[in-house]
Amino acid sequence: MRKLILLFTLSVMMFQSCQSTKEKTPMTVKDQAIEKKIDELIAQMTVEEKVGQMTQLTLSVLCKDSLGGAPQLDPQKVEKAIKKYQVGSVLNVVQNTLSRDQWYEIIGGLQKEASNSRLKIPVLYGIDAIHGANYTVGATLFPQELALAATWQPAFAEKSGAVTAYEVRASATPWNFSPVLDLGRQPLWSRFFETFGEDPYLTTEMGSAMIKGYEGDSISDPEKVAACMKHFVGYSFPFNGKDRTPILMPDRLLKEYYLVPFERAIKQGALTLMINSSEINGTPMHANYHMLTEVLKGELGYQGFAVTDWEDIVMLHTIHKVAATEKEAVKIAVLAGIDMSMVPFNYKFSDYLIELVNEKQVPMERIDDAVRRILRVKFKLGLFEHPFYPKERYPKFGSAEFAQASYEAASEAITLLKNSNNILPLAADKKVLVVGPGAHTLNTLNGGWTHTWQGADTAFHTAGKKTILQALESKLGKEKVVHVQGTSIDKDINTSKAVSAVSGVDYIIVCLAEDPSVEKPGDIQDLDLKQAQKELVKALAKTGKPLVFILSFNRPLIIYDIEEYASGVVMAYLPGDEGGRALADILYGDVNPSGKLPFTYPRRTGSLYTYDHKFSEEKDIDYKYTAVNSQYAFGQGLSYTTFKYSDLSLSTSKLVGEDTLEISVKVTNTGSRVGKEVVQVYTKDLYASITPSVKRLKGFEKVDLKPGEEASLTFRIAKHDLAFVNNDLKWITEDGDFDVLVGDLKASFVYSNK
Ligand code: BGC
Repeated sequence: MRKLILLFTLSVMMFQSCQSTKEKTPMTVKDQAIEKKIDELIAQMTVEEKVGQMTQLTLSVLCKDSLGGAPQLDPQKVEKAIKKYQVGSVLNVVQNTLSRDQWYEIIGGLQKEASNSRLKIPVLYGIDAIHGANYTVGATLFPQELALAATWQPAFAEKSGAVTAYEVRASATPWNFSPVLDLGRQPLWSRFFETFGEDPYLTTEMGSAMIKGYEGDSISDPEKVAACMKHFVGYSFPFNGKDRTPILMPDRLLKEYYLVPFERAIKQGALTLMINSSEINGTPMHANYHMLTEVLKGELGYQGFAVTDWEDIVMLHTIHKVAATEKEAVKIAVLAGIDMSMVPFNYKFSDYLIELVNEKQVPMERIDDAVRRILRVKFKLGLFEHPFYPKERYPKFGSAEFAQASYEAASEAITLLKNSNNILPLAADKKVLVVGPGAHTLNTLNGGWTHTWQGADTAFHTAGKKTILQALESKLGKEKVVHVQGTSIDKDINTSKAVSAVSGVDYIIVCLAEDPSVEKPGDIQDLDLKQAQKELVKALAKTGKPLVFILSFNRPLIIYDIEEYASGVVMAYLPGDEGGRALADILYGDVNPSGKLPFTYPRRTGSLYTYDHKFSEEKDIDYKYTAVNSQYAFGQGLSYTTFKYSDLSLSTSKLVGEDTLEISVKVTNTGSRVGKEVVQVYTKDLYASITPSVKRLKGFEKVDLKPGEEASLTFRIAKHDLAFVNNDLKWITEDGDFDVLVGDLKASFVYSNK
């Protein structure tokens, strides 16, 4: 009981403090008008109507039992959801991707029912359009986030967001559960490919750009959608690597690393957020009052709403065991600060919450706060006037223009990791053998969240999109390409036939791959590439023909024991529907590769660390500083030309207080091809009261240079770029010596607060 009173008091206080934060920020006239409409609406709403707004169901609950056929709304189920329970939000597909016509029929049907309800509040439909509108037939599929990060060009994340927003709205849907702002620092985790990689700075820049693409200047724009930042917060770092298992993380680290991309997105105005399904230090995030209410809605001043992840309130009872009953789980989550429950299968959340409010176990102020936040998004999306726009309004859906944008992103993402004796680019007049489980499928180019949740069903692929094999055949002519699959992901099929096929070929392209998967089904036991694929490589290596590996992986799979057999290694990531074409163009030099790894590629399964590790991690068993020995380093990526860095200089050697340090550097294309280079600026804090990282990324820029051309770049950093979070959970910058590292150059300065 004491706990309850405390939570109640805190939530009322929090509600008040959120109000006062709101008062401090000047509101536009349009926003004031929206707040007034919300006040008027809330004043008329019954408890049932309010709780309905907080309820989100999955589409199948509203559909006839289709037995795998096309989903159709069931009028009685729809009436129950919208008339009786006033459900405010619906999500997902039933099983697989739908045509635009089907989306219009379904969402149109729901909005029609809503427009006949007492208060006529439109339904907010949400979808996981993670790398394009991947649940709409014929949509443009972009590289997954990890690949977008490898471009080191936020403009590609923005473009991917903009095209996705267009195509999602063209599917009558106004809300996208993207971007993932979690950091990819645990490669065992099945959702690694959904992140922008390991670094908080790169993730923040990419995430912010993607949200800009989704939301533009206003989410009421018919070509924009509301983004959903996820998964707040720390979700990506499970201790044992398995999805939705415990995270052990000091608050200090959470704040210094994992919270940073969310802070930026909130400042930028993002208004929806999904909660981490796991527990941190023993508290499930869905029960975490401190993080959801005090930090998110208090300290960070978040004005949007927090939606649970899939069935996560129920799981407070069934999985996490912090609630003895489902009803108690609802109480804990709502008091902790969740605003909308992705229930998603039944009406228990609504029933329990209505009871809890009537029993005064959950205060009406908390309910009103949640409803206000949800209605704010519905008003800002313009759903009251336009629950959706006419289908004909979107002529560019699935257009060649959009496919080109996806192709360009893939071309700048794909990363050349090894190129012994300049084997690449390959000569187009030579014959090539193409093998491996990734050679002739779009599945391993797209990964999870592609037409189906796990992305493993080939039935819905967009006609005309090319696999790696097809792209090579188009480029070289069929007569120059021999194909033998060799193995599936984990089993030999015809390795011996592949070996026999080498006679007469000049190169072997080995398309190594990992099955598409996501969330729990993507949990793995170890990071090794499957043995069958390794055996294929070893057998082919014995023929003496040069091998080029293409890696289509969800995460960095360990290849150290076969890497020596490769003359070339190309990281494809999950480059999307245009990835086959982009890879062919890179292999044959029509595109000069310029991607850089957004994560540290480990050499061995027992040596997982990030580029910004601590000095102590570098010391090996022999007491030499050799422990950090990745297969490929963060930020690494080769080109068919060469670059030279020179003239690194700092505007001062003594940086004081809030002054800005200017870092200037020159980079020259010293090779014979046009090429793009990502100039990366790192700082190194030599000594600090919290053990410093060996270096931290603080700036980057991609430059495009002709042979012999040079670019002079200037980066600016200031006190906050040198800060870290101390044990009092405060961002501080300590006086002391710092290095700036760019390319192979180094410069030093001293920082003092006064
Ligand atoms: C995932 C979320 C996703 C949601 C809705 C969950 O299982 O964790 O990322 O947005 O389902 O499909």
